[in-house]
Amino acid sequence: MGIDVVLLGYGAIGQAVHRMLASHADDVRVAGVLDRAALEGAAGEARVAGPAGRQVPVVNLGTATELADVIVECASPAAVRTHGPGIIGAGTDMLVASLGALVDDRLRSTLLERGPGCCHLSTGAIGGLDLVRASAGTIEGIRLGTRKPPAALLHPGLTAALRAAISQTDATGRPRQVFGGSVADAVRLFPSNINVAAALGLAAGDMDLVHVEIIADPGATLTRHAIEVRGSGGNYGFSIENFPDPANPATSALTARSMVSGLLRLAGRGPHFI
Ligand SMILES: NC(=O)c1ccc[n+]([C@@H]2O[C@H](COP(=O)([O-])OP(=O)(O)OC[C@H]3O[C@@H](n4cnc5c(N)ncnc54)[C@H](O)[C@@H]3O)[C@@H](O)[C@H]2O)c1
Repeated sequence: MGIDVVLLGYGAIGQAVHRMLASHADDVRVAGVLDRAALEGAAGEARVAGPAGRQVPVVNLGTATELADVIVECASPAAVRTHGPGIIGAGTDMLVASLGALVDDRLRSTLLERGPGCCHLSTGAIGGLDLVRASAGTIEGIRLGTRKPPAALLHPGLTAALRAAISQTDATGRPRQVFGGSVADAVRLFPSNINVAAALGLAAGDMDLVHVEIIADPGATLTRHAIEVRGSGGNYGFSIENFPDPANPATSALTARSMVSGLLRLAGRGPHFI
């Protein structure tokens, strides 16, 4: 039995997931990789990806939906927008890491409600989403304070003002809040850096309940998420400190492990907490 997956995105997370799945081959098999960079210049589908001895074919979307029970998105919010509707529409399931894409109401409804494929959301770099989900309808507000080293916040699409503010923290050596506002604005300005904000909004059932603060801290070696949930059902706090993925300082190493844990759950491997 077990399930076959195709990795959509073969960067830091995709490669770590592939490595970790080697010890779960009876439950989850990697059947291919769909990656923009790997496909560039590829002649047909002759290209392969992965370490020697465990290489898998580089495939296009059509082949991916034929091969996979689940397509594992660990690429970018843009990849979710481009490929998500086609995957779900083809009746293939999808596990999504780039949750920021789901701030878009129309895309969210296409992926989560229309089917026939099923869209699963990865817990990614945080925990406690089961509790937030269980509290949906009773939550009055969520505050997310994310503290990262400046290098983990810099990306090519940043506005000049944000780039200057983040870079300045390296020069002064002092932490600085570089963003405060809604999930939608956080995701617009930091598309690949603040998926946890969208995760909290999705779990709470309302993105507008979440207030996001991002701090660039030149003294930080870990990424810290301080999460405070207030509501009529109770008040909850989580403090999560993640080591970065060695291949990408913007990504926490926990994210790949969360995806593997989710895939094992989909393959029927317990214990299941629901
Ligand atoms: N949910 C979470 O907590 C969480 C945490 C970290 C990262 N993420 C998401 O995971 C994504 C991947 O993280 P990473 O560290 O592996 O990034 P990475 O930059 O190391 O790798 C991304 C890979 O995806 C490929 N890619 C990007 N856009 C694509 C597209 N449209 N079609 C096909 N391939 C595409 C790139 O070629 C690259 O190989 C991030 O962009 C972020 O959105 C989510």
